[in-house]
Amino acid sequence: MYILGLESSCDETSAAVVEMGEGKRRILSNIVASQIDVHRLYGGVVPEIASRAHIEAVSKITREALDTAGLTLSDIGAIGVTAFPGLIGALLVGVNFGKSLAFANSIPLVAVNHVHGHVSAALLENPELEPPFLALVVSGGHTSVYNVKSYTDYEEIGATRDDAAGESFDKVGRVIGLPYPGGAALDKLAYEGDPKAISLPSPALLGDNLDFSFSGLKTSALNYINQAQQRGEEINRADLAASYTAAVTAAVSKKVAKALEITGARHLVMAGGVAANSHLRREVGKVCEKKKVSFTCPSLSLCGDNAAMIAAAAYYEFLQGNFADTALNASACEP
Ligand code: KG4
Ligand code: ZN
Repeated sequence: MYILGLESSCDETSAAVVEMGEGKRRILSNIVASQIDVHRLYGGVVPEIASRAHIEAVSKITREALDTAGLTLSDIGAIGVTAFPGLIGALLVGVNFGKSLAFANSIPLVAVNHVHGHVSAALLENPELEPPFLALVVSGGHTSVYNVKSYTDYEEIGATRDDAAGESFDKVGRVIGLPYPGGAALDKLAYEGDPKAISLPSPALLGDNLDFSFSGLKTSALNYINQAQQRGEEINRADLAASYTAAVTAAVSKKVAKALEITGARHLVMAGGVAANSHLRREVGKVCEKKKVSFTCPSLSLCGDNAAMIAAAAYYEFLQGNFADTALNASACEP
């Protein structure tokens, strides 16, 4: 069946058509209208501007997604829309558009958890991937570990207690003058620096838990920059990028190893915008190799926010009969 996915939880408006079922997991179109250039002027996402930009883009890109797929709404078996978590105003645009489209055309509507969507990006490229598996979602809003029992049953077994990995990359990137969002630029810059040059605290919480705290790491990096400025010294940005990336990578790898031990999982999926980080992909890959656990990470274009992943997650909610109706509301947090 063909599923139309809609995504508007943050700063990308996206519409996609995927074909799912009967052994198929195929992306027919995946249109992403990024607002990054607008938010870059402010150094971060401005929620009100994001909502308005979603309103301007959503109809056009939905039409584009259908046209690229060579389909019309009458071919669509379900509409999946991101309903939570995210920026409330931004989410409401997608949810209300999805509701209108679904009910005007008598198409079943499915509400999708954005985080489950990120994990589903990996399913699209790997037809053989089946739960149970362990999933790590690292994004601008999440750093969470899940025991994925089925496509619709996710048990959170670890999470950040404060900032997300991507959020902290972006903050440090901004302070050292990198354009928003700083994550991808820090990734590149880290190759030019020494990962041992600056001593920074680990964002992995001590003990037998699978939790993180990125606020201490972020504050240490900001203190390092401020103290250098007060002394009138220029900081080595590449060394900071390398040391910061190494601290994040080591912490995530450590918790992944622990999560694999605790759960005995035989497969790991790493997803979300920060899963595009080349250092993290390499190091988490090494952990899995050492533990003889298979490892799947979506290709770079499917790590960031996109609607194909939302449509894929919607398919499994659809199979469970988890339909939404006109009472569907968006929520900033996971219910
Ligand atoms: O998943 P995503 O597109 O949006 C959320 O759901 O939050 O993730 C966006 C985050 C941003 O913080 C961005 O800086 C980060 O992903 N990111 C990266 C890289 N590419 C994007 N972080 C580290 N290294 C990268 N290569
Ligand atoms: Zn996301």
